[in-house]
Amino acid sequence: MTKILVTGGTGYIGSHTVVELQQSGYEVLIIDNLANSNIKILDQITKITGKRPEFFQMDLCDREKVFDFFSKQNDIAGAIHFAAYKAVGESSEFPLKYYKNNLFSLVNLLEAMDKAGCNNLVFSSSCTVYGQPDVLPVTEDAPVQKAESPYGNTKQISEEIIFDQSKTSDLKAISLRYFNPIGAHETALIGELPIGVPSNLVPFITQSAIGKRGKLKVWGNDYNTPDGTPIRDYIHVVDLAKAHLVALERMTNNKSEDQYEVFNLGTGKGNSVLDVILTFQKATEVNVDYEIAQRRPGDIVQVWADTRKANEVLGWKTNLELDVALKSAWEWEKNLAQGIL
Ligand code: WQD
Repeated sequence: MTKILVTGGTGYIGSHTVVELQQSGYEVLIIDNLANSNIKILDQITKITGKRPEFFQMDLCDREKVFDFFSKQNDIAGAIHFAAYKAVGESSEFPLKYYKNNLFSLVNLLEAMDKAGCNNLVFSSSCTVYGQPDVLPVTEDAPVQKAESPYGNTKQISEEIIFDQSKTSDLKAISLRYFNPIGAHETALIGELPIGVPSNLVPFITQSAIGKRGKLKVWGNDYNTPDGTPIRDYIHVVDLAKAHLVALERMTNNKSEDQYEVFNLGTGKGNSVLDVILTFQKATEVNVDYEIAQRRPGDIVQVWADTRKANEVLGWKTNLELDVALKSAWEWEKNLAQGIL
């Protein structure tokens, strides 16, 4: 079987991608330092696919360990790199923690891959690189704006590091710029596992609805949008996971048009915060108790993806709607409350 390395494979998007890889016949190796994920997710993945991924608990900032790993695994066809810190707010509080972790780990991975002749990389990037776009929907050619946070800056810098490496080596790479990943696997055995108080909208909604949190605060309803609340492009995590296989196989099947390519991964539809709340209530028949609060610093007004390049060039599009994603998030939250982990 073709071997694929998934860094951060016990995390939210990583675990869903591991499931899709295994169900497509790949042998998956996971490197994760468990800084922001739970080892029990390995059991959950195994329950879904019947195959336990080979797991290496490792910090990618440990250069020696990363080189040692690749010296022993010399037949890895490609790597999907999720492992990074991703809390926007925390990154503003502790910028060096983010620059060190997210950039040192990437450089170590790239050096070790180059030495091992592993030349296919899918990189987990983010629409955050666009900041507040001037034109919507936003295309991959939109100007990358000054990052609003050190987290967003690490994504921009990482893309540049990968691009430069692809120009001077045999590396082929694809950066996938995610919009807002939400939801959980249909089995409700894996899903989003925020540590502490969720900063993202959907896990806060489900934790508030299950009684784990108080009222949802809607951070501002005085934006220049139809209902006054910010608009985002919420994409089901399973649609997102499937895109990683398509990107990987674009490279392993030598279909890439350039050594380095970038694709937006979104639905192409924008929904406001109030849309999400109302859709959640309708899909689950569960009430969300919320109050309007002050704007959250750093929030942009609205962004949603131009999906033409992903649809026409990558050959991928989303299939799962907002209500399905929100329902799946709720099923997962209920399982967590039942002590599934
Ligand atoms: C969405 C909307 C909030 C919580 C972030 C990162 C981005 C990516 C996805 C990693 C905003 C509002 C939220 C709450 C609220 N992460 N909201 N009350 O900020 O668009 O994107 O997560 O790649 O990089 O920036 O997502 O879910 O935090 O917020 O009103 O309790 O929901 O103001 O308008 P965001 P989010």
